[in-house]
Amino acid sequence: MDLFQEQARRNTETDAAWMLYAPHRQRVTQLLLDARISTGERLCLLGAGNLNDLDLTALSASFCEIVLADVDATALQRGLSRQGFSKDARFRVVAPMDVSGVFAEFVDMANRQPVRDDAIDNCLRKLTLLPEIGDPVGFDVVASVGLLTQLIEGVAQSVGETHPRFWETVSAIRTQHLRLMLELTVPGGAAVLVTEVVSSDSCPALQSVDKGDLPGLLKGEIAARNFFTGTNPAALQELLRTDFTLAGQLASTRFTEPWLWQFLTRIYAVYGLTMRKRG
Ligand SMILES: C[S@@+](CC[C@H](N)C(=O)[O-])C[C@H]1O[C@@H](n2cnc3c(N)ncnc32)[C@H](O)[C@@H]1O
Repeated sequence: MDLFQEQARRNTETDAAWMLYAPHRQRVTQLLLDARISTGERLCLLGAGNLNDLDLTALSASFCEIVLADVDATALQRGLSRQGFSKDARFRVVAPMDVSGVFAEFVDMANRQPVRDDAIDNCLRKLTLLPEIGDPVGFDVVASVGLLTQLIEGVAQSVGETHPRFWETVSAIRTQHLRLMLELTVPGGAAVLVTEVVSSDSCPALQSVDKGDLPGLLKGEIAARNFFTGTNPAALQELLRTDFTLAGQLASTRFTEPWLWQFLTRIYAVYGLTMRKRG
């Protein structure tokens, strides 16, 4: 499978979802605005894709410069144009940009099954490095919205979920992603992760749950281990507390209550995590 083409295919499939994403977009945008400190000027959006989950009018009223990074350059152009910002100099597009730096390795491993140990060793070595997104770095807010699951799915599609080193690779790409987000953030700024945790495919109750019952429903699903690998908020919190490359950089972490994201015919339960970097 060509993972680049697959991301582009998915973005094309969801390009017209602007109206459908409205409540999700409002939640994500507000979370980013709330994460901004009063002097914050620069915003970085990782995996911004079609930009259907980001209200650029609201964000550009608060941030002077917005950097958009994605492997899919066409999706970013479509998204900017839909919101009327394709010629706005406040937006800087960094694409195609692989924020993990191992997409090529994933493609290689996907094409050479079964995956050998040395290929995984090489991938893990690369995941100790942080890709550069170009000068100048140092953002007041760095956001990753719906990207973590895509990175983890890249591991599933290449290493394979049944491979004995699947979890080790998932764990490495998740830690690298959090490290990258904090690396790009200025001291006192915030890195904001928004991730899906489970979908209506495996939890049909999401189709009809009342807003007030969602936290309880999600708690039950997580206890029953029905969640996307690598997205359990409790495990993420523990990682942020115990991994010295992350914990030492953090002033605070705050998880939101979950909300629902209508994604075509599927519904995702989603939560946000704001990591405030030490000043
Ligand atoms: C679920 S989409 C995010 C939703 C998107 N903001 C929207 O409104 O449609 C995930 C995005 O991550 C991008 N992506 C996946 N893997 C990536 C990688 N390794 N580096 C950069 N972007 C990646 C995809 O191209 C896609 O645009």
